[in-house]
Amino acid sequence: MRSARYKAPTWSLFVFCLLFAAGVVAARPPASDAIASAHPLATEAGLLVLEAGGNAFDAAVAVSAALAVVEPYSSGIGGGGFWLLHRASDGHQVMVDGRERAPLAAHRDMYLDEHGDVVSRASIDGPLAAGIPGVPAALAHIAQHYGRLPLDVSLAPAIILARDGFPVDAVYRRMAGFRLAALRQSAAASAQFLVGGEPPPLGHRLQQPDLADTLEAIARDGAQAFYTGEVARRMVAGVRAHGGIWSSRDLQQYRVVERVPVVARYRGHRIVSASLPSSGGLVLTQILNMLEAHPLDGLNRADRVHLLAEMMRRGYADRARYLGDSDFVRVPLARLSSRVYARRKASDIDPDQATPSAVVAEPRAEGQDTTHFSILDHEGNRVAATLSVNYPFGACFVAPGTGVLLNDEMDDFSVKPGVANAYGLVGSQANAIEPGKRMLSSMSPTFVEGPDRITILGTPGGSRIITMVLLGLLDAVDGRSVEDIVSRGRFHHQFLPDRIEVEPDALSDEVIAELQFKGHQVRQLNDPYGNMQAIAWDLRSGRISAASDPRAIGASAVVPLSAGRTRPDGVARSASDPVSTFVR
Ligand code: DON
Repeated sequence: MRSARYKAPTWSLFVFCLLFAAGVVAARPPASDAIASAHPLATEAGLLVLEAGGNAFDAAVAVSAALAVVEPYSSGIGGGGFWLLHRASDGHQVMVDGRERAPLAAHRDMYLDEHGDVVSRASIDGPLAAGIPGVPAALAHIAQHYGRLPLDVSLAPAIILARDGFPVDAVYRRMAGFRLAALRQSAAASAQFLVGGEPPPLGHRLQQPDLADTLEAIARDGAQAFYTGEVARRMVAGVRAHGGIWSSRDLQQYRVVERVPVVARYRGHRIVSASLPSSGGLVLTQILNMLEAHPLDGLNRADRVHLLAEMMRRGYADRARYLGDSDFVRVPLARLSSRVYARRKASDIDPDQATPSAVVAEPRAEGQDTTHFSILDHEGNRVAATLSVNYPFGACFVAPGTGVLLNDEMDDFSVKPGVANAYGLVGSQANAIEPGKRMLSSMSPTFVEGPDRITILGTPGGSRIITMVLLGLLDAVDGRSVEDIVSRGRFHHQFLPDRIEVEPDALSDEVIAELQFKGHQVRQLNDPYGNMQAIAWDLRSGRISAASDPRAIGASAVVPLSAGRTRPDGVARSASDPVSTFVR
C-alpha cells in the first residue's frame, strides 16, 4: 500500500518527463505576432497596440473596439461576445463571457400577443429586442486582468477611427441596404449609419462622434462610464422612450463571468472551445465523440458528408432540447459530453440512409454579421474571440447622444418553444426568457491543440457557426493549411429544418445525388456563408501562418519580431507614437 502510494508520483513524473521531451522541449516559441480579423483596420489597430508593448490580450481589446466602429453590422459596444484566452506564462485558459443578459423586466412571453402568437420582428427590430450589453465590461476585464496596457492606449485606435471616420466599403453598404427599413426607424441610427436616409456611397468617410465620446469616456473612467453615469442614463431613457424595458439597475448589475472552457479530445488533439451560455463547445464535443466511434477514415466524399450530417443533426437536436444558460437551468453536462452517450446516440446512424429529424427527436411542443478574430503573440498568448450584435446592425437602434448601436440578441432565446428564431433554431424551456438570464449562443471561438500544431479559429454565421468550426477543426487535425481551413466549401445540418445546406460548389453533383439517394433533402445555397479567421503555430519550426476567409474583406497579418522590437521584458517601442499616426 505504502509503496504503491510512493510509486505513483514517480511514475507520473516519468510520464511528464517523456511528454516534456516529446512535446514542450521541441516546441519553438512563435517568432511572430499574428492577427486575423474581419476588417483590415481592426487588424491594424491590434498590430499597433502590440507595437506599443501590448500583449495578445491588449490587442484583443483594440481589435474588439475597432471592429465595433468599422463593422457596426457585426459587433459593437452595444453587444456581447466570448473571448477564449490562453496565457502562455502558466497555461491558464479561460472563457471571458461578455454575453448579453435579458433585462430584469423581461419575461417568458414578452414577444407573444394576447393569442400567444409571436409578434413578428418584435425580438429583432427596436430596443425591445436588446439584451444588456457585455462588451464594455469584458474589454475592461480583459485589460485589467490579462493585459499590460491601460485602456486608454488599447482603445485609442478605435477612438480615432470613430472620430476621424473610415471609408465605407461594399460589405457595409450591402448590410446597411439589408437593414435599411429598420435603421430608418431610429433617428439616431439613421444619422450615424446612413447618409440622407440611404446607405452611404462607397468610400464615404463615416464619422461617429457620439461613439467616439462614449469610447473616450470608457478609456478614461473604465466600464463604469458605460454602465453608470450619463451614458447609462441616456441609454435607459432612449430605450424606454421607444418601447424598451431597460432600467438603470440592469446596467449597474451587469457582470462579466469567467467560465471554464469546454475541452474535448479528438485523435490526439485537445479541442478547447466555448462553454455555456454558448452551445458551441458542447455540440462540438458530442459530434467529436460520435466521430471517435464512427471514424471518417477511408470513406468517400458522399459517405463522409452523410455521416457528418447525421452527427450534426443529432448534436443540434440535443442543443434544441437541453441547452440554455446553466446559471438558470440544469443542463445534463456530464451526460451530454460523455463518450458512452455519444456512442449510443450514433448507434442508429445508417450508413446508407438519412434518419428523418422527426425520428431523432420529436420537436417538443412544451413549451455576414457577428465577427470573429484570432490573435497569437510572440510570447504564445492566444485569443479566439467571437462577438455579436446578432442580426446585421443588431436592433438598428441607437440611443440618442450615445453612439451605441444596440444588439437584438433577445432573439437568440426561444421566444416560444418550438418556434424557430431568425437562424431557424428551435429551443425548449431551457432557453426560455427569464430576467437576467443569458440567451443561448452558437458562437464558438476554438483552440485546436495538437502535438505539432496549435490552431486558433472561429467564425460568425448564426446557427451554422458550430458546423463551420467543426469542419475547420477537422481540417486542422488533418494538418491542412490555414488557407484551406478558411476557404474550403461548407455544408450544414441543424436538425430542423431537416435538410443539408450546401454552399455553392462545395459538393459535386454526384455527391449531392448520392446524398439524395440516401434520403437527404439537399438545399444548394445561392450564396457562400461564414467569415472564418484562423492562425496556426507550427510547434516544431515556430512558423506562424494566418488567413482570413476569402468570402469577405478580412485581413490577416504575421509580423516577425524585428530588430526594432524585442520581447516585452525589454519593451522597445518604435520612434514615433504609433497610435497617434493611425489611419491618417
Ligand atoms: O450568439 C449567436 O449564436 C448569434 N447571435 C450569432 C449571430 C451570427 O453569427 C450572425 N452572423 N451571421
